[in-house]
Amino acid sequence: MQILTELDIRDWLSPISAISQALAIKQLENGNILYMPKLSFSLLNEELPVLSTHISNHKAKNISFNSQNDQLHGVNHEDYDPTLIKNMMARFAKYAHTLINQVLPGYSKALQTGRTSYRPVEIYGRISKSYRKDDTRLHVDAFPSSPNQGRRILRVFTNINPHGKNRVWRYGEAFENVVNRFLPKIGNPWPGRSAILKKLGITKTYCTDYDYIMLNIHNKMKADMRYQKTAVQGEIEFAPGNTWIVQTDHVSHAALSGQFLLEQTFYLPVEAMNHPELSPLRILEAAKGRKLTL
Ligand code: SIN
Ligand code: FE
Repeated sequence: MQILTELDIRDWLSPISAISQALAIKQLENGNILYMPKLSFSLLNEELPVLSTHISNHKAKNISFNSQNDQLHGVNHEDYDPTLIKNMMARFAKYAHTLINQVLPGYSKALQTGRTSYRPVEIYGRISKSYRKDDTRLHVDAFPSSPNQGRRILRVFTNINPHGKNRVWRYGEAFENVVNRFLPKIGNPWPGRSAILKKLGITKTYCTDYDYIMLNIHNKMKADMRYQKTAVQGEIEFAPGNTWIVQTDHVSHAALSGQFLLEQTFYLPVEAMNHPELSPLRILEAAKGRKLTL
């Protein structure tokens, strides 16, 4: 299976050709990873100290920044100037946004900006609080506290490791196969569940049937160790200086090892896709024979 579509982009701000744009959207929507091996993110001299695990307060696994309201979480405030980290992450957020506008111009109008994340902790050997949080197991992304009501999850990653260390990922089978395997094992949510979760503050937004199914698929994939071992899968190594764009709600993935990664999340309503029928929402709706976002 061909999973990477390589794009020769070396600069965050340069325009790209219409031919590359057409290839990019087609491949991305069909479950490929857009891979830019020569698109690196440079730190300023004064930012170099962020390349340390010491920057993390070790309560959260990642440092997260919301560029909309300037909120930064997960930083060891005693030893690090939050403004320096915010500036670095805001710069990455801006570049990632420009990149999506260049590569996928059809998405620009509808694109919604999510969190920026900086991942300074080595993944290999990291102990997760629960198997559900263990991203070394194959999964599609779905998050218990932030239902996204069918919107696509589009992420830009850049490996900024200064010691030549790759980010090693595994990718799994096509989304349709994941659905065929796990959807029959998922029942219906009990009536009123979504309203109660929202009222109790367990979810930030309304948890639709789509969110319920996606989170169950995510959890069941991670719980099934036999599946983890036997599912069709391959490995990819992303070297420092590589950037890649993935729809992580669609592409089954796991991060096995690596340290120092930047990531920007975007959300996209399925109607903004060239082929909405390729989205997890429409694939699940076709399988269930009903709307899942009412
Ligand atoms: C994930 O999205 O599961 C983790 C990706 C990474 O941190 O490399
Ligand atoms: Fe993930």
